[in-house]
Amino acid sequence: MALTDETGERTAEERLEAFEQVVCQANIDPHAEIRKVQDNAEAIFTWDYKKGRREKLDKLYEKAKTSQWNGSTDLDWSSDVDVEKVANEINDNDYRGMYVSMLMEAEGSPINHWGEKEWNEYTIESFAWRLSQFMHGEQGALLCTAKIVETVPWIDAKYYAATQVVDEARHVEVFARYLDEKVPSRYPINHHLQELLDDIISDSRWDMTYLGMQIMVEGLALAAFGSMHRLTSEPLLKNLLRYVMSDEARHVAFGVISLQEYYQELTSAEIRDRQEFAHDAAERMQGRFLQQEVWDRLGVDVYAMSKVFLQQDPAENIFQQMLFSKIVPNCKKLGLLDAGDGYLRNAFTDMGVIQYENFVSTDEEYTDLDEVEKDRSLS
Ligand SMILES: [Fe+2]
Ligand SMILES: [Fe+2]
Repeated sequence: MALTDETGERTAEERLEAFEQVVCQANIDPHAEIRKVQDNAEAIFTWDYKKGRREKLDKLYEKAKTSQWNGSTDLDWSSDVDVEKVANEINDNDYRGMYVSMLMEAEGSPINHWGEKEWNEYTIESFAWRLSQFMHGEQGALLCTAKIVETVPWIDAKYYAATQVVDEARHVEVFARYLDEKVPSRYPINHHLQELLDDIISDSRWDMTYLGMQIMVEGLALAAFGSMHRLTSEPLLKNLLRYVMSDEARHVAFGVISLQEYYQELTSAEIRDRQEFAHDAAERMQGRFLQQEVWDRLGVDVYAMSKVFLQQDPAENIFQQMLFSKIVPNCKKLGLLDAGDGYLRNAFTDMGVIQYENFVSTDEEYTDLDEVEKDRSLS
């Protein structure tokens, strides 16, 4: 399928064709208790124990050791949460709410008869769905980082990645607890997110775990957490997100710093593979925004709803674009945007997200996001 037309943009028909391939895939079995994915990588020992050979990674490792927090004691779990209020607060102020209203008015929309009751229900379910995907994504990060400990050949990176394993365990723990104790509904992993995690885990090349997880999945998570953190006034959720974000910024920085070095050694054909991997990951993430599981639970025809969704111009979906505000500058920093024939620049232009290319890259902003250190300096 052609990526772009002569104006550099994908036509509505091409988007629809791509979508039909996406939406026809079945959702994950919601009743399965575990999922097995073949991890094809080799575990690597290094005998070079010299700490600090990679100065930036060493600095990040030292920082991670002093920025630890405890989800059980640093957060106040005692308060009641009014889920309807929190969900509405986020949705009303969120670009997503605006966009979904547009979907309602679109031609052929299966929700064009919706009233206040249905919207309210959607808002709560959408909130539960987003938190559920955060939780599942965090488990993906936990597994991927454990894999990085095994597969990366540098001791400074193994040390740092080990701290990230603890961070990710804590993130899964706090999102799972928030859902368990405060939110009446939860969702299985979204099909597109699972496929992306499967791709990342099953790839045998160690740097692909970094690109898929540290740059793409975590880059999107950082933007999504940032948006929810800004909009919510619910104290537990707000605190939980700010703590998680201070870790996530370090994680994305870890990816940028490591890959910047490694990509210097790669051939242009190998770089092209990375560009394509990043593009595939980005498309899978867009598939996730369809929230198929929410429409399904609300009794809305998923296919019809998704069709309406995909007919919209992605450039008009400000919420969706914003989620790429970390990914695009970080890919640029890695040289992936313009390498070769500029494949990834074209792809991101097509997706309507290229405008973020000059935003600050995460390896430069992670210290600003360190809330644990800020708290300490205030006390
Ligand atoms: Fe995380
Ligand atoms: Fe992370």
